[in-house]
Amino acid sequence: MKNKVSIIGAGMTGSTTAHWLAERELADIVLVDIVEGMPQGKALDLQEALPVIGKDVSVVGSNSYEATAGSDIVVITAGLPRKPGMSRDDLLFANADIVRKAAEETIKYSPEAIFIILTNPLDVMAYLAMKVTGVAPHRVVGQAGILDSARMRAFVAMELGVSVENIHCYVLGGHGDEMVPLTRHSNVAGVPLEKAMPADRLAAIVDRTRKGGGEIVSLLKTGSAFYAPSIAIVQMVDAILKDKHLVVPAAAYLQGEYGLKDIFFGVPVQLGRRGIEKVWEYELTEQELDALRKSAAGVAENIAKLNL
Ligand code: APR
Repeated sequence: MKNKVSIIGAGMTGSTTAHWLAERELADIVLVDIVEGMPQGKALDLQEALPVIGKDVSVVGSNSYEATAGSDIVVITAGLPRKPGMSRDDLLFANADIVRKAAEETIKYSPEAIFIILTNPLDVMAYLAMKVTGVAPHRVVGQAGILDSARMRAFVAMELGVSVENIHCYVLGGHGDEMVPLTRHSNVAGVPLEKAMPADRLAAIVDRTRKGGGEIVSLLKTGSAFYAPSIAIVQMVDAILKDKHLVVPAAAYLQGEYGLKDIFFGVPVQLGRRGIEKVWEYELTEQELDALRKSAAGVAENIAKLNL
């Protein structure tokens, strides 16, 4: 039997996720959106593309949650994207209503699903989804760390003229401007980044990584990034469905790891068929821990605002 992945929100990120998933023949796909006809149209268009590349998965679009029944994974991207000058936190209340509804409806039809949350502010939305669905924490994971780390890897590759495959970067913390690029643990083919380039160039890359989402928003003007966020989701779906035990940075519910509790926060997580199998802990310096605590305080403040 094929795996089934439902994507709530068939906008830029949701539909691009469907595109990458179908191309990899990873699962049957359902796209759900409130806009009438749009998810159906995108799904049909994608279905009609698959004969050309010889991929046999079904792609269905719907305005109703019934179509999501029996999903192995539910991806929530429904929400409002950032506009220029808007922070991710400005989206908090509007997107909380949307994610609450998506979580309530999907858990009814897919009681065994694993949830991947993308809607921003995603650490807070992942917390909300866990509360609303009532599922165990290991079944909810927020997508951000792969994206933030990929941005940093891209900037390092551009700076050094080295293949992205040689570059390993780890960005932890909340998915906001206080995120924590771990330069000490990041490396180029095993050579620490701090040794691979001058300190001022590395500082500039760290700064650009932190503001990476905003850079795209100010260029696009009418939306936020979608290629990199969607391929990051696909890497997580792949790791879960294939039970890969893949360690990636992602938002997990913390219960004491890194000294943090009752919060979703970007840390290295091991993903397999059960969802989050383990949170890996780096040995961090006091300075790095301080940066994490600062980022966590912002996430905790927003979680508190939702009064869950
Ligand atoms: N139920 C289902 N879909 C909804 C709902 C809802 N209640 N409310 C909005 N949507 C849909 C919109 O109709 C739209 O098609 O969510 C989709 C969002 O798509 P885009 O506007 O293209 O936004 P996108 O760039 O995909 O970003 C979605 O991901 O990265 C985050 O910050 C971003 O929170 C935003 C989310």
